[in-house]
Amino acid sequence: MAKLRLGVLVSGRGSNLQAIIDTIEAGNLDAEVKVVITDKSEAYALERAKNHNIPGVYVNPMQYTNKAEYEKAVVQILAEDRVELVVLAGYMRLVGSVLLEAYPSRIMNIHPALLPAFPGAHGQRDAVSYGVRFSGCTVHFVDKGMDTGPIILQAVVPVMQDDDEDTLAARIIKEEHKIYSQAIQLYAEGRLKVEGRRVMISGECGVESGEC
Ligand code: GRF
Repeated sequence: MAKLRLGVLVSGRGSNLQAIIDTIEAGNLDAEVKVVITDKSEAYALERAKNHNIPGVYVNPMQYTNKAEYEKAVVQILAEDRVELVVLAGYMRLVGSVLLEAYPSRIMNIHPALLPAFPGAHGQRDAVSYGVRFSGCTVHFVDKGMDTGPIILQAVVPVMQDDDEDTLAARIIKEEHKIYSQAIQLYAEGRLKVEGRRVMISGECGVESGEC
């Protein structure tokens, strides 16, 4: 079976990118990372791509007159590599209409909280401040909102009494590294279907019906 062609968009250290690459190399994800694109020239994720002979491209948003023009440049690169699924891995920009229209229901994101709780750039900090007993991470399809798209998978971790933003983030990221590849594999297997806000996973058993 042909491998799912991924384009990964990053802005920073790229540990989720690394986890995806490692899962592919271990033979547990039927995909290949065709290109890594970043909006930050200093993103460490570029080093990670290089270490695995994956092309890394820096697209400088400042060189474009507006978001649409910047995204056209990104889409062009993704199209050249015949990318089928766009994976946001620590990409710190709100996705705009050009990218969304080029890849409808074909962009995934991971967020370090149990959405819809604590969207935005400080999911772990906000969870600690609020005082929740559990938090976690969410893989979702991207829509035009901030962390609002249909939810694919979530993982839960406890929030401990003495947690701060960093200790909670360290607990959550271990789960991120597992569920992102799992969600991409489900997509690769053609098992995800978006029905309104819900993502149905074929082969998953219903509690009442017992049907899988
Ligand atoms: C992760 O916590 C992810 O959930 C969020 O940004 C962070 C990226 O980390 N969207 P990394 O660059 O993958 O290490």
